[in-house]
Amino acid sequence: MKHLNRFDNILDLIGKTPMVKLRKMSAVSNTLVYAKMESFNPGQSVKDRIAYHMINRAEMDGKIKKGSTIIEATSGNTGFSVAMISAMKGYKCILTVKDKASEDKIKMIKALGAEVIKCPSSVPGNHPDSYYSRALKLSKEIPDSYYLNQNYDKGNSEAHYLTTGPEVWEQSEGRITHFVAAASTGGTLSGAGKFLKERNPDIQIYGVDSEASILKDFHETGTYSEPKKSSSLEGVGKNIIPANVNFEIIDKFIRVSDRDSSMAARYLARTEGIMAGYSSGAVLAALWQLRSHFSPGDFLVVLFPDHGSRYLTKIYDPEWLRAMGFLNGSQQLTTEKEKIRQ
Ligand SMILES: Cc1ncc(COP(=O)(O)O)c(C=O)c1O
Repeated sequence: MKHLNRFDNILDLIGKTPMVKLRKMSAVSNTLVYAKMESFNPGQSVKDRIAYHMINRAEMDGKIKKGSTIIEATSGNTGFSVAMISAMKGYKCILTVKDKASEDKIKMIKALGAEVIKCPSSVPGNHPDSYYSRALKLSKEIPDSYYLNQNYDKGNSEAHYLTTGPEVWEQSEGRITHFVAAASTGGTLSGAGKFLKERNPDIQIYGVDSEASILKDFHETGTYSEPKKSSSLEGVGKNIIPANVNFEIIDKFIRVSDRDSSMAARYLARTEGIMAGYSSGAVLAALWQLRSHFSPGDFLVVLFPDHGSRYLTKIYDPEWLRAMGFLNGSQQLTTEKEKIRQ
């Protein structure tokens, strides 16, 4: 049969993303390291998977119909995916976004016709001005509206259980030993992780956390503590415990700094030609921390959630790096990496 590479609509392109070997990291850790490239989704991020699944489920459950308004609280990527699907299916779309979301992301969301409401990032999750509270309030005020709620709707992790997990298993031909992904809602890690552990309980599931997050501490102590720092990372870490984080299937969290994450993403672009997003840098920085922890023959899969073009005014802008103070101080990561390059 001819393979025409022709599709009925843009949403048919969601998922089935490629995996690419990271040559340098494989060499340094004496393992095989493959990156699952979620920027190959039509909305250029992993969030297409969950937005599509949650919207399809809401349609099937009769919670939305043509003309409904879809509301979501999102740091940007889910917003883009929800806006793209809403445009295709004829829904109105309102997104509450943290004010630290990059301007690039916000402009892209608006280009798809969605309304964007910026909310302060500095307030706790239960504050009336937080992007969660604003989304919930809007869903109560606007008739025929539906709040997707990616943190609590289990359709999020289910999407990864049904798609990301099986793809990773198949693409690694069942050889995967470690799955490493950033955690925010926890959907990627928990959904794909659950599928992989069911296939082989020895597969290690590692989450990547930010310095402004409570996930790692909660995993280790079972107690909730207010985050002590702030972070410019988008899509890494949380100041709430989302229902989509399944702590039981996560073996370990690795905490990374904003600086190391930025430098790792830039390094990736310059050594592998892969221009990935800030959270992909976080995942790579975590792998770097763990580099002596692996055994020869290990098969690592890391998930790169989005494309670097969404961070041109952040990690790919030297002025931003300078303003953040990332070009001063310890150069350990850069120096070590320079060694690899030689
Ligand atoms: C850029 C980016 N990376 C990583 C993640 C984390 O994915 P998850 O919410 O499935 O934990 C997100 C989620 O917001 C994201 O936007």
